[in-house]
Amino acid sequence: MKEIRQYDVLILGGGLAGIYTALKLDSNLKIGIYVKDAINKGSSNLAQGGIAGEINSSKEKKDEHYEDTLKAGSYVNDKNAVRILVDEADDALKDLISLGVKFDVDKDGNLIKTLEGGHRSRRILHAGGDDTGNHIMSDLRNTLYQRTNIKVFENEMAIELLHQDGEVKGAIVINHQNEEIYILANKVVLATGGIGAIYQNTTNEKFNCGDGIAMAYRLGLKIKDMEFVQFHPTAFYDDKMGQKFLISEAVRGEGAYLKNIEGERFMEKYTPLKELAPRDIVSQSIYREMYDTFSDHVYLDITYKDSDFVKNRFPTIYKHCLDYGIDITKDLIPVVPVEHFLCGGIEVDLYGRTALKNLYAVGECAFTGVHGANRLASNSLLECVVFGKRVAEDINKTKDQCEKINIILPDMKLAKKKYNFKDIRQETRELMSRYVFIVRTKDGLEMAKKILTKHYKNLLKINVLSRYYYETLNMVTVALIVINQALERKESIGSHFRID
Ligand code: SIN
Repeated sequence: MKEIRQYDVLILGGGLAGIYTALKLDSNLKIGIYVKDAINKGSSNLAQGGIAGEINSSKEKKDEHYEDTLKAGSYVNDKNAVRILVDEADDALKDLISLGVKFDVDKDGNLIKTLEGGHRSRRILHAGGDDTGNHIMSDLRNTLYQRTNIKVFENEMAIELLHQDGEVKGAIVINHQNEEIYILANKVVLATGGIGAIYQNTTNEKFNCGDGIAMAYRLGLKIKDMEFVQFHPTAFYDDKMGQKFLISEAVRGEGAYLKNIEGERFMEKYTPLKELAPRDIVSQSIYREMYDTFSDHVYLDITYKDSDFVKNRFPTIYKHCLDYGIDITKDLIPVVPVEHFLCGGIEVDLYGRTALKNLYAVGECAFTGVHGANRLASNSLLECVVFGKRVAEDINKTKDQCEKINIILPDMKLAKKKYNFKDIRQETRELMSRYVFIVRTKDGLEMAKKILTKHYKNLLKINVLSRYYYETLNMVTVALIVINQALERKESIGSHFRID
């Protein structure tokens, strides 16, 4: 007997994009949010630096944000999408405040704004000093729990989308006992986040396997700009692999220097913008410097700043480093570039609509075109809010059309096996980290492609009803899309750096 549930709107993902979209939907709509882990986990919670946007500012300041976004993205951004992003930022930020988000203010109650790489002026709001994502998410979750029309399901992972006659009709979800549940919905919103799990080291949660992108790909939807994987220049360096603690770009924004293992500043050799260049340039410069100094990390130095300022401005980073015996007011912070953000994703229009009727995508899994070849710092949370609102507006317009869903449910015929696919997952991460990292060559990309194609074909031969099977299939799927698109783009641009 199949378990069937039904909603007006099904949202897959509980990060900022998913939750904010839910909050902007009409309160008469019955909404289900499904997350594969706990609702308080996910990369939005880990965002430190802040959320960019000109609030109560002039048209000139918005134009500067527009220009900075295009420049960071090497001018291959979608200009209409960027215009929307910067022009609608003011409303978006004010709306977050009205929904209960408490950004940091000075003693007179004025919002404090910080600076990060690629921004020509201070336009980034933050909360809890360097704990912005966590604060935004917990404030919004408090608001969400008051909405009786929205229900959250944890540890339930969508494995395939249901569709019929050119329309999405819901999704198949598996619960933690590996039982399938059929979720019917008039509208489905993919807000499943990025692809950090396909790299050895990432600032993402380890469960970010590109699930939404892979499901959309299996339906034949267009996935774009996947070669533009952004590497954050400064994750905390330690000897463990996996999810890495971020040392926010705002630390450089507040004046920290990058130094090589000899203790020498080096950014000036690579760009006049020095530490405040866009991320692609800083990561590539660090990579070069590590290569030239035969080392696997560099340092950040903020020791020359007033120590009370540093402790108050970066309480999370201060505490994390202290746990590792590093007092950032006195010691250098060891850092290394790691996977951070996917600029590409599922192609959507300016209202988050995919090419499949009633299917939307928003946040990191979506390709709106705002980021171009490299995202400007702190534009990602802004994208979630600006485009989440647009998705909700589009759905709200058609809410009267929500109707009983007729669909012949597929018979999944999946075996319940205990395979764990550990080796494939590990090899995927190793290949991506070696050949599809900051520096890429045709030979390396082809080598990774050959091995992963073999794994992909083997995975498709079996059908296993387990989270691990689908996560592995999704990881290999998105890794191959990144590789294929990296092979197609022969020139270096933004975060895609070909040395052949
Ligand atoms: C950071 O704080 O450096 C991350 C912010 C972002 O990814 O935009």
